[in-house]
Amino acid sequence: MKIVIANWKMNMLGREAAAFCEAFKADYTPKAGCEAGIAPPFTLLREVAVHAAGSGVKVFAQNAYFEPKGAFTGEISMGQLKDAGCHGVLLGHSERRHVFGESDENLVKKLKAAWEYELLPVLCIGETLTQRDAGFTLDVLHKQLEVLNATGPGPLVLAYEPVWAIGTGRVAEPMQIEEVHAFIHDELWRLWSDRGLEVPIQYGGSVTPDNFEGILKVPFVAGGLVGGASLDPAKFLKLVGQTQASL
Ligand code: PGA
Repeated sequence: MKIVIANWKMNMLGREAAAFCEAFKADYTPKAGCEAGIAPPFTLLREVAVHAAGSGVKVFAQNAYFEPKGAFTGEISMGQLKDAGCHGVLLGHSERRHVFGESDENLVKKLKAAWEYELLPVLCIGETLTQRDAGFTLDVLHKQLEVLNATGPGPLVLAYEPVWAIGTGRVAEPMQIEEVHAFIHDELWRLWSDRGLEVPIQYGGSVTPDNFEGILKVPFVAGGLVGGASLDPAKFLKLVGQTQASL
């Protein structure tokens, strides 16, 4: 399975989201083996779910808390995401890790909680520029992937997003993507054997319709997690079309 997801981050108001969904739906034709998803901010989840209903587009949240309910002011539970019409949830995005201190320990709990509510988690991993320059890329990814050892297997999408390529316009070179995706593929096999090989591995970081075709040709790249370019329905449609064409 290949999957491309629009990560809207902290962008869009209600009317913009509605206009995006209508424009996207008008030209979107689903294709077996390729999923398209939108990850709006919490306030727009239900709205996007209503607009996307029947179109085949899946709704993802950008984060959630692992406790099912209670006194956790400002947090949102997996059950609440399900109730709002979500299909899945992004977990461990680098902005969550680096700006808000998301820990691997919490991610283990969040993955398990997502599965309990039958949400598809998209686990994001990636190295910083300092870590890459110091030659630690694979060690960092190995450590981030160890959460999957703690959880055991379950339905999952993995997103490799080098932190230095996110929102910077500086996309990773195909050779760099190839090395990392092959490494992640081997790690998934080591951790979950056959179940690991079912996990699609997305690339993310300054993806645009201009560079995505080349990225999709890299072995073990099974789609993308897209920020900036996903705010424009025409661009996102192109990215989905490119993913479908790569099947
Ligand atoms: P970008 O963001 O496409 O704007 O680099 C990707 C992401 O953070 O998911």
